[in-house]
Amino acid sequence: MKEQVYGPIDNPVEMGYSIAAVTETLKKNKIYLQQFTDIYPDGITSENIVDAIAEFEKVLIIPNSPFDKYLKGDNKAISQKAKEGYLLFVSKGCVICHHGVNIGGNLYNKFGIYKDVNSSSLGRYNITKREEDKYVFKVPSLRNIALIAPYMHDGRMSTLKDAVEFMTEHQLGRYMEPGETDAIVAFLKSLTGEVPEIVRSK
Ligand code: HEC
Repeated sequence: MKEQVYGPIDNPVEMGYSIAAVTETLKKNKIYLQQFTDIYPDGITSENIVDAIAEFEKVLIIPNSPFDKYLKGDNKAISQKAKEGYLLFVSKGCVICHHGVNIGGNLYNKFGIYKDVNSSSLGRYNITKREEDKYVFKVPSLRNIALIAPYMHDGRMSTLKDAVEFMTEHQLGRYMEPGETDAIVAFLKSLTGEVPEIVRSK
């Protein structure tokens, strides 16, 4: 976790800064000086900045969704429809890309495998300049997906139903039977976790 904090600070396409410069900047701010010394005896240092960011990132993981509870054995945590949706999510092939603990977030994939998606962004190609990375995007995690509309990198759709239908057609080259999309949407809604107080109050 901590190593990941350094990366974006130094990376020219992210913050393009250095941890030493960040340390100097924060030291000029009285509020930060106070808040750091309240928690860390040695105040603002690069190690403490990285530690604070890593601690903050821990609360960004929002656990205990109804689906997590279902996986832990609480059979009543999600509806029958959501259970069907989960099975469809697996059998239709959504899991090929959206998998793991965060149901996505592990790989890059082409956006628009079976049908052109009219993307105005070239995706990863902008960074790598490799032909095969054209229209390749990060497969997003689907945790808390019901809370983060609009969807796709360009926010092209505002409902989960539209997003699921679009994925089925463009990423899988398939169609859903009546009711199947709704079931998958019910499953996706069961991925909303308990947002910690500290995040909710802001
Ligand atoms: C071949 C890989 C692949 C498959 C299969 C796939 N997806 Fe996706 N999915 C992606 C990628 C890549 C994106 C990001 C596209 C973008 O950012 O524009 C995405 C985005 C999404 C989004 C929007 C996420 C957001 O944060 O905006 C949802 C919802 C979604 N997929 C659901 C599904 C469902 C449901 C299925 C099965 C019907 C499915 N996906 C199948 C690769 C895939």
